[in-house]
Amino acid sequence: MNIALFGPPGAGKGTQAKELSKYYNIPHISTGDILRANVRDGTELGLKAKQYMDKGELVPDEVLIGLIRNRLTEPDCETGYLLDGYPRTIPQADALTGILSDINKPLDAVINIEVSDDELVKRLSGRRSCTCGESYHVVFNPPEKEGVCNACGAELYQRDDDKEEVIRQRLSVYNEKTKPLINYYDDAGILVNIDGTGAVDAVFADICKVMDQFK
Ligand code: AP5
Ligand code: MG
Ligand code: ZN
Repeated sequence: MNIALFGPPGAGKGTQAKELSKYYNIPHISTGDILRANVRDGTELGLKAKQYMDKGELVPDEVLIGLIRNRLTEPDCETGYLLDGYPRTIPQADALTGILSDINKPLDAVINIEVSDDELVKRLSGRRSCTCGESYHVVFNPPEKEGVCNACGAELYQRDDDKEEVIRQRLSVYNEKTKPLINYYDDAGILVNIDGTGAVDAVFADICKVMDQFK
């Protein structure tokens, strides 16, 4: 099954994708996680991306398009994929259509997780992240042991871009550059809207109802 999770920063894409990837046994491809891993490793890509990420800006399209092409042609995508955080601009979406046509794996659905701006700010300002890709919330989704990842035992950290002023900038970039993709995929007939305001488990169940159609 070939799915993209879509939604503003803090909608719960990463939280849901982690679980969905295990449940359906398809790779979770988060461009944000790939970029952060490159920042940590100090690669050339990471050094370039960091300048944009720290300001809440998008990393240039040509960088992301090359990255996603490489990732989608890896063997674990044979059985499908779950995109998280890509595409984020019209040129990225157009490039994706070309890549997916080359590998004959067109998108089955784009699942748009809807959450209000006030709730997004609360979620992002209380988020605690792990280098393994898990994310928690100090109030809404705390780890079993404070400051420690349930999945891998590593110490949790607060992302540099989860500061209030950067959060506002990310939301504004989303509204300007990414939100137009809702119409883009609605016109393509593959957009499904999901209410992302319920509890994590409730949102998961709603997404499964959609994904089950493509098993
Ligand atoms: P990225 O890492 O993709 O960040 P984002 O889109 O801003 O999304 P987030 O990861 O912040 O939110 P999420 O939806 O995953 O929410 P989460 O599940 O963690 O991108 C970061 C940066 O990288 C970008 O700004 C850009 O610079 C660059 N980048 C990445 N991809 C790019 C691309 N394609 N093009 C260009 N640049 C790119 O949940 C958030 C919080 O809410 C957590 O604390 C969680 O515990 C909590 N929560 C989740 N669900 C619920 C719930 N149902 N109820 C209550 N709390 C919940
Ligand atoms: Mg995320
Ligand atoms: Zn972890």
